[in-house]
Amino acid sequence: MAGIYIHVPYCHRRCHYCDFYTQINLSSLSDFYSALLEEIEIRKDFFLEKTPIETIYFGGGTPSILHANAIALLLEKISKTFTLSNDLEITIEVNPEDVSEEYYRQIRNAGINRLSIGVQSFDDWILKYLNRRHGSEHSSQSIEWAYQAGIINLSIDLIYGIPGMSEELWEKTIKTAVGFSVQHVSAYHLTIESGTTFGILKERGKLSEIAEEQSWNQMKILHELLIADSYEHYEISNFAKKGYRSRHNQSYWEHKPYLGLGPSAHSFDGILRYENVRSLSHYFEGIRKRQPQIIIDNISTENKMNEVIMLQIRRKEGLIKDKFIRQFGIENYKKVELRAQKYYPSYLDINTKGIVLNLKGWFISDTIAKELFFG
Ligand SMILES: C[S@@+](CC[C@H](N)C(=O)[O-])C[C@H]1O[C@@H](n2cnc3c(N)ncnc32)[C@H](O)[C@@H]1O
Ligand code: SF4
Repeated sequence: MAGIYIHVPYCHRRCHYCDFYTQINLSSLSDFYSALLEEIEIRKDFFLEKTPIETIYFGGGTPSILHANAIALLLEKISKTFTLSNDLEITIEVNPEDVSEEYYRQIRNAGINRLSIGVQSFDDWILKYLNRRHGSEHSSQSIEWAYQAGIINLSIDLIYGIPGMSEELWEKTIKTAVGFSVQHVSAYHLTIESGTTFGILKERGKLSEIAEEQSWNQMKILHELLIADSYEHYEISNFAKKGYRSRHNQSYWEHKPYLGLGPSAHSFDGILRYENVRSLSHYFEGIRKRQPQIIIDNISTENKMNEVIMLQIRRKEGLIKDKFIRQFGIENYKKVELRAQKYYPSYLDINTKGIVLNLKGWFISDTIAKELFFG
C-alpha cells in the first residue's frame, strides 16, 4: 500500500495561527500547476516496489483554490503514471468559502470521494479572531452542500484552546458538528507558532496560551461528547465513526511509502525520507532543470525509534510491542518500557501488547514522548 500527497501552497488570506508553507500571492498559480504535472512525470519511478496507490491527498495551503478541471487532469495524470488500487481514498482539503454544491459535484466527478472541510468553528467571533475568510453560515453550508452533492465521507477540522473561547461555546461547537453527522472530526488544540500573527502578539506580551486547566477541560469535553455520539477517538486529534478513519493519515503513522509533490512536501520510499524545497521559486527552478530540489534525510536509528514512539503513542493502539521489537530489538523496547514506568498507571498502561496512553497521558503526550526518547 502506498500514498500520494499533493501540497498546494496558496491561500487567499493568512490565518493568524498558521505557519504552513503557503503564500497569498496567487500570480504563479498556473506555473505551479504545470510544474506539478512535470513533477509527477519526473518522479514516476519513486516507489521502490510496484505497490498500488491506495490514498491520494490534496493538502495545503488551500487546494480548493484549484478548479475542478485542474483536479480532474491531475488525477488523470496520476492514474496514467502510477498503478492505482481499485479501492482508492481521494481526499481534498477545502475552505468553506471556496465551495458550492456545483464545485462539489464537479470534484466528485473528477474522483474525489472524501472531504476535509476547514470549518474551525461555527462562531462568527471566533472565525474573525482567527482571521478566517468565512463566517459561521459558510461553515454549515459547506457541510450541507457536500451531502447534497453526494459526498458522504466528510471530515471537518475544528480548533480549540483559543483564548477567549468559553467551555460553553466549545461544547456548542462540538454539538453542532455532531448534529451534521459528519463521519470524521479532526480537532486541534491551538498552537501559537512563532512568526505567525499570534506568535508576534505573544512575543509582545499581548497574547498568551490559555491556562492548562482550561485546555484539559476542553479536551475532556471534546472526548466525552464525541465518544457519547459513537465516534472512536483513534488518535490524539482525530475521531471517526466506525469504518471512517483517515486511511491516508494512518498510512503515515504506519510508515507506509508515500510520494509528496509540491514545495515543502515530504516523501518516504520505505527506506529514506525526502523533503521538497520549501520555496516556490527554488521548486520551479528544480522542475525546469528536471532536477527537483529535494533534501534526503537518512535518519539515524535513534531518530527512527523516536519518530515511531512519537507517532504511535498518539494513537489508540499505542506503541505496539511486537512491531517495535521486530524493527529495533527487544533491548531497545525494554528501555522504553522502563522509562514509561514513571507514568504508569495514571497516564498510561503497560501490557503484553505495548504501551497505551489514556486521555490524561495524551494531554501531556509531548512530555511523555521526551521521557521515552533515545539520545
Ligand atoms: C494547513 S490547514 C489546511 C486546510 C485549509 N487550508 C484550511 O485552513 O481550512 C490544516 C488544518 O490545520 C489546523 N491548524 C493549522 N495550524 C494550526 C495551529 N497553529 N494550531 C491548531 N491548528 C492548526 C487547522 O485546523 C487547519 O484546518
Ligand atoms: S489555516 Fe488553511 S487557509 Fe489558513 S493560512 Fe493556513 S493553510 Fe491557509
